[in-house]
Amino acid sequence: MSAVTVIAKKRDGGALSPEEIRWLIEGFVAGRVAGYQMAAFAMAVFLRGMTPAETAALTLAMRDSGRVAKLHGARGPKVDKHSTGGVGDKVSICLAPLLAACGVRVPMISGRGLGHTGGTLDKLEAIPGFRVDVPLSRFERLVKTHGFALIGQTADLAPADRKLYALRDVTATVESIPLITASILSKKLAEDLDALVLDVKVGRGAFMKTLPEARALARSIVSVGRAAGTRVSAVLTRMDVPLGRTVGNALETAEAFEVLLGGGPDDLVECTLALGVEMLRAGKLAKSDARAEALLRKAITSGRAAAKMEALVAAQGGDPRVVREPDRLPRAKHQSAVNATRSGVVQDIDALAIAHAALRLGAGRTRADQSIDPSVGIELVKKPGELVKRGEPLACIHAKSRSAAEAEAAAVLDAYRVGARAPRPQALVIERLRG
Ligand code: URA
Repeated sequence: MSAVTVIAKKRDGGALSPEEIRWLIEGFVAGRVAGYQMAAFAMAVFLRGMTPAETAALTLAMRDSGRVAKLHGARGPKVDKHSTGGVGDKVSICLAPLLAACGVRVPMISGRGLGHTGGTLDKLEAIPGFRVDVPLSRFERLVKTHGFALIGQTADLAPADRKLYALRDVTATVESIPLITASILSKKLAEDLDALVLDVKVGRGAFMKTLPEARALARSIVSVGRAAGTRVSAVLTRMDVPLGRTVGNALETAEAFEVLLGGGPDDLVECTLALGVEMLRAGKLAKSDARAEALLRKAITSGRAAAKMEALVAAQGGDPRVVREPDRLPRAKHQSAVNATRSGVVQDIDALAIAHAALRLGAGRTRADQSIDPSVGIELVKKPGELVKRGEPLACIHAKSRSAAEAEAAAVLDAYRVGARAPRPQALVIERLRG
């Protein structure tokens, strides 16, 4: 076998065998296959696609390029959630302790934000002292003790994905369904899961802008997951408007805690419960959706979900008081209201425009090596369907200085559409795909 023959076979539209794919990935990680050859391979896959069997082989080869967590001592089904990324998406921080409180084991390995979408790790690092750089052995112990853990990708987890993604990022080969499928699933399958629930965000604030694209990705991940022996289901959720009322790391973490304490914005609660129902069903801990939702609500009202979060924050080095006392999270020096210039009903908020404003304030990064400011962001005082009077606040900008807030005021105002008529209500959950 040689890299040239494998690349040429894919270039000419052939289907690769599992042995050819594994040989290529192992060679790439060991340094026998050069980066330029892997980039050519990625472009061949981008142009020619892959069969489900090839995608499954690629996923497993990438998973096996590193360590796979061992959670067999943990009681209960092991189920995780993966979101394709959105604006204001802090669901993981609500969902993991909530499901742990219901008896599911949630070994959650998350990523950082890049570009307009936020990352769970950045939100968690807003908690004073909280450590996400936890080795796999300690991660396994945390999951066994607390029922869940929230950590970042370790160097020994699916290293082939990290190396390949770095090449795809600079060779215009990110937007390929088989490559995205293998990238997402290789990392998730390394968590030793029984089941995975995928939140595929659809809309202008999402990676997948249209329903056909989102469906294609969801179907690919569900079928490859099944071929690899893991139950995968998907929920397609709307991402045209930011989720919840906050965008920015500390603001979002505080909002996620509100949900655990029984409050929080309706759309965030709805998204959390919808994904929680799928996770309980996938873990076979509830026989119906109604029963699953009742279990989740009980875990919140009983205080068990918040207590789970407090225990984990302490175990990962953070100050557990932040869960009930959000004032302990970093707060930006300057807050500035963005007022409505007309009276009416909020019809729309452009998630992408809000995300870009938050990014410029310092809440996110455009390059992986940039640092972020956990305290800055945007609070959406009004959401679609709500009335506003001229001169009343639509949003509040949290910034490091008055001038930084003023620089984004026009962009935030422009992201809002206020009109005479209420917008047509749109369901947050578009459809479900059960594997
Ligand atoms: N997220 C990933 O983890 N990998 C991709 O390829 C795209 C999005």
